[in-house]
Order: sequence, then C-alpha cells, then structure tokens
Amino acid sequence: MKPLLKTLTETYGPSGYEDAVRKIVLKEIKSLVDEVRVDALGNVIARKKPAQGAKASKKIMLAAHMDEIGVMVSHVDAKGFARFTNIGGTFGRYTLGARVQFLNGAKGIVAHDRLEQMDSPLPLSKMYIDTGATSKKDCPLKVGDVGAFERPYFEMGDRLVAKSMDDRSGVAVLIETLRGLKSTPHDVYFVFTTQEEVGTRGAGPAAFGIDPEIAIAVDVTGTGDTPASFKMAMELGKGPCVKIRDSGHLADPRVVEWMIATAERAKIPYQREVLLFGTTDARAIQATGPGVLTGTLSIPCRYVHSASEIVDYNDLKNSVKLLNALLTKAANV
Ligand code: CO
Ligand code: ZN
Repeated sequence: MKPLLKTLTETYGPSGYEDAVRKIVLKEIKSLVDEVRVDALGNVIARKKPAQGAKASKKIMLAAHMDEIGVMVSHVDAKGFARFTNIGGTFGRYTLGARVQFLNGAKGIVAHDRLEQMDSPLPLSKMYIDTGATSKKDCPLKVGDVGAFERPYFEMGDRLVAKSMDDRSGVAVLIETLRGLKSTPHDVYFVFTTQEEVGTRGAGPAAFGIDPEIAIAVDVTGTGDTPASFKMAMELGKGPCVKIRDSGHLADPRVVEWMIATAERAKIPYQREVLLFGTTDARAIQATGPGVLTGTLSIPCRYVHSASEIVDYNDLKNSVKLLNALLTKAANV
C-alpha cells in the first residue's frame, strides 16, 4: 500500500480537477471490479457484484474523495505577481512559504506582503505567488489557473507524511480493500468522489445514481494527541475511528453498532470518534434521495490541510481489515 500511497499523494488533484488522480484509480481498480463508470461530476463508480447465490445481500456504497485543497489565481499584476483564492480549506498559516504546482505545468512559491506582526498568520489576501516572472506578459499564470501544494511523500517509521493524505489515504485504503476482497455477499460500490473539499459536492450525485441502502465514507479525521490540541479522543496508531459525530453528520447508530460489533468480533483495534469540527462525504450521502443509512470510517491524521499531513501505517492496515470484515459477512443493519 505504501508505493500506492506515495504515487497518489504526489499526484495533483485540486477540487474539480481530479483528472490525474482519477487516471491512477481507474488503472488500479480495472481488473478488480465487475463494472466501472465515471459520472457527470467525475466520480469513479466501481461495482463488485455479490457472489452467486448470496443471501441477505445489501447494496453498500463506500466513498473516498480524490480531490485535495488548492489555490486558484484571481489576479496577475503588472510585475507578474499572482494573487489567488482558496480551493477548499486552504489556511493562511499553512500556506505561507508553500510551493505550488499548477496543472498547466507552472511552478511558484507563496510569498507575502510586508509582515506587520511577526507571529500572526496572514490572510490569503495578503499573499501572492511568485513564479519568477518579471512582468504580466511573461507570467505563466492567468486568472482561473489551478494549483496544489508541492511536497514529496516520506516516512518516519510507521508515521507516513505527505500532502493530501486527506483523502488519498482513504483512496489507498479502498483500493487495498478491493485487492484483498475475493468475494462478498453484498452488492458493493467503491466510489472515488470529486469536490469534497469545497463542500461535499460530488458524493451526493454519486449516491443518487447508486441508491445504496448503507454507505460508509472513508476519510481522515483530526486527533487530540498533540501538545495543547483540542480535547478529542482520537490518536494516531490506535486504530481506525468509528465516527459518531462531526459538525455536518450524525452517523446512523445502526451503522456505528455494525462497525463496532464487527471490529470487536474480528479483534481489530478501533476508536470512538467525536470530531469537533469539519465533516466528510457522509454528510451529503446521508441526505441524498430518500436518505441512506450512513457512517464514516476515519483515519486519524495530524495537521490536516497542511502540506505535511501525518497518518500511521498501522491505522491504514487496520482500516483495510475492518472494511474487509464488514464486506465479507451479512450485515445486520
Ligand atoms: Co479535507
Ligand atoms: Zn477529506
């Protein structure tokens, strides 16, 4: 799974521009599923059909988002400096000094107007991108150009560091789950969604097209295990988190119960998750059409939305185990 994660996190796919990530996903899953299609919003929808003669089959949707946060050029001045706006949760404190790779091939660095106070984070409106240009004419950027943070993947023992672990780690977990899933009694849709970071825009239409009975979003979650962090129970390396609540989603208690009972039966470590801020695709899926029984399996992640997000390899492996355990038995939901 590590080489796959390296490839996925070193690929650029800001919201709405997930093409390069989608190509990798399609290539990886093609031989593992019965059907695959790409819908109008660019979601990859791959189906693994139930084994012949399977009883008590449920239609289950799993979703991980392909997109990542990024920047979009809003203005280029006479000297060739580009102002920009955010794509998703691009925060000032993480953006200063960042290197940006644009989808048109241009590179730049994020610099800032004069520092009035050394310690206070600047808003994005006081930052600009320097591409090395000397005038508007030779600037490789135009209004509307899209980029993402450039940062290579690396490992610190079991702690894996990269940009866009949110949510390429979820994408890798879904692909790895497919690799290990020989057969299932369920009709399972592995969905790789678009535009999550700008307000879970891809997952709803994907769910509408599938009309699942049960859905599980697979995404990262914040932790409470760093100095002076929020008082939250989630820690790196203690297992996948079964979400109970975040700011956009109350997980269906029946799905929570199914996930926890399955983890306990299979002796897979897990954590109970109440996330104080942020949400996932589960929010959109739950309220699609006549409604879907929805939960979330979360991968604990430090420094979410920075260019150096950290996850623990054991949590990824245990997430795959838990999904496999959920998909290989009848679901009492
Ligand atoms: Co995110
Ligand atoms: Zn995410």
